Amino acid sequence: MIRLFHISDIHFGLEDRRALDWVAQCIAREKPDAVAITGDLTMRARHREFTAACHWIKSLDVAVTVEVGNHDLPYFNLVERFVDPYRRFRSIEALLEREIDLPGLAIVPLKTTARAQWRLNWSKGAVGMAALNHTLRAIDALPSGTRAVVACHHPLVEAGTRGKALTRGGSRALAALASRNVCAVISGHVHDPFHLIHPTPNGPVRMIGAGTLSQRVRSTPPSFNELTLAGGEITVRVRNLEHVSTRDMQIEDVPENALPPRTEGEPVAPVRAVPTIDPPVY
Ligand SMILES: [Fe+2]
Ligand SMILES: [Fe+2]
Repeated sequence: MIRLFHISDIHFGLEDRRALDWVAQCIAREKPDAVAITGDLTMRARHREFTAACHWIKSLDVAVTVEVGNHDLPYFNLVERFVDPYRRFRSIEALLEREIDLPGLAIVPLKTTARAQWRLNWSKGAVGMAALNHTLRAIDALPSGTRAVVACHHPLVEAGTRGKALTRGGSRALAALASRNVCAVISGHVHDPFHLIHPTPNGPVRMIGAGTLSQRVRSTPPSFNELTLAGGEITVRVRNLEHVSTRDMQIEDVPENALPPRTEGEPVAPVRAVPTIDPPVY
């Protein structure tokens, strides 16, 4: 059995301290196999916000992966945003990530952020061909039979949440991932949790979204996801301080064509060691 804590959108600078203290206690007590953080570590990518994120994450005695979110690119310094947008994130990513060794499973990053886009709102998602190909190559390099959890910031297609990701290139990326041994695509950004199966021309893909641990709540209180992979099943439990049930935390109206997740999943891959994944291309 593998147990992942999927957390997202902490937004240091506007974090929810009470929620963070609770999550840290849960991690210390329950010792999940890994923690996957799907972006928006900070509010405005300020150095002091990254320092606070670094301090909190390093205090967790667990293997951690971090993805970049749109809030983690320089907001005030446009020169830096255009010239070297991922420098601040990279510097803390190098301090935080530790080697993950999960039996038969790899967490593979997919970049969905952009320094600029041909539309007014640059906070929305974008998956370029270079980023997608990098992720596909990483998946293809895994030992035969190893399953991948793809971690990104923006949901690749809309999941029926109040907040929208409007990810350009997302449908194409999701279809490409469906042709690989991907057991789930996990994401954040919309600040509300969800769990659904989305159809693509290459078959269905499981999409799992985590809520926020910041004060920027939308429809649901601060929360994180507990993912359990055991006996061929993937279960998702949305945990929150208010003890609202998972069912009430997740969206009710799945998008057209999407399906509620089955409780019984596909067989989990044979147990084997997984090599470290190369960092994504920024
Ligand atoms: Fe966010
Ligand atoms: Fe975001």
